[in-house]
Amino acid sequence: MSEISTLVTEGHFRYIAAHTVQEDDFLRDLKREARSAGIPPIWISPEQASFMQILLKLAKAREVIEVGTLAGYSAIAMARALPEGGRVRTIEISEVHAAFAEQWIARSDVAGRVEVHRGAGKDVLPTFAADSADAGFLDADKASYPLYLRESLRIVRRGGLILVDNAFAFGQLLDERPTDREVGAVRAFNEYMNQVQGLHSIIVPIGDGLWVGVKL
Ligand SMILES: C[S@@+](CC[C@H](N)C(=O)[O-])C[C@H]1O[C@@H](n2cnc3c(N)ncnc32)[C@H](O)[C@@H]1O
Repeated sequence: MSEISTLVTEGHFRYIAAHTVQEDDFLRDLKREARSAGIPPIWISPEQASFMQILLKLAKAREVIEVGTLAGYSAIAMARALPEGGRVRTIEISEVHAAFAEQWIARSDVAGRVEVHRGAGKDVLPTFAADSADAGFLDADKASYPLYLRESLRIVRRGGLILVDNAFAFGQLLDERPTDREVGAVRAFNEYMNQVQGLHSIIVPIGDGLWVGVKL
């Protein structure tokens, strides 16, 4: 049997997107309104959302934590994968983003299942109890990822999921002269992930590269 993997090209990404359950009108409207409000379009893709929903269902997740709410797209998508009584606690530092997200969450089919916590991840995460979540999704400032990971490993139960976005550093991971200022932090974090004890993880080539890990 061959160990050679198929190179994932832009064509494959488009193919995956075309063969993924499409997002509904509500999430499309949310994105349109967010753009109009001047919120940057840096939410996860529909295919990444779908993949994360599958992972959450497999993990039988009820409680999810997130750092980086933006407009609420990923929080709403994740909440939709949870059973009745499930909850997403999502942390956002920007008041504009938090207010927009709260408005749209309140109008969504998962209103009451998503809590927006205002503040910096480094200040809010320590207020969450140990073993109080089944999954965590990190999608905010990259320099803080090692700290967020350590906190998430405290908050997420054993056997729970750790998801971390942008392992491909906005497409610039392998560039010799990257232009984005966070590329260095992503590269350092990727190395750190390889050494972290108590986590079995791998980068999945979906979206901008998604770390998927299971807490051992
Ligand atoms: C990539 S966006 C999140 C996208 C969102 N997860 C989605 O897919 O719909 C990153 C968000 O993290 C927020 N952020 C940046 N630094 C932060 C920090 N230190 N603590 C909490 N949120 C932060 C930004 O304001 C921005 O809204």
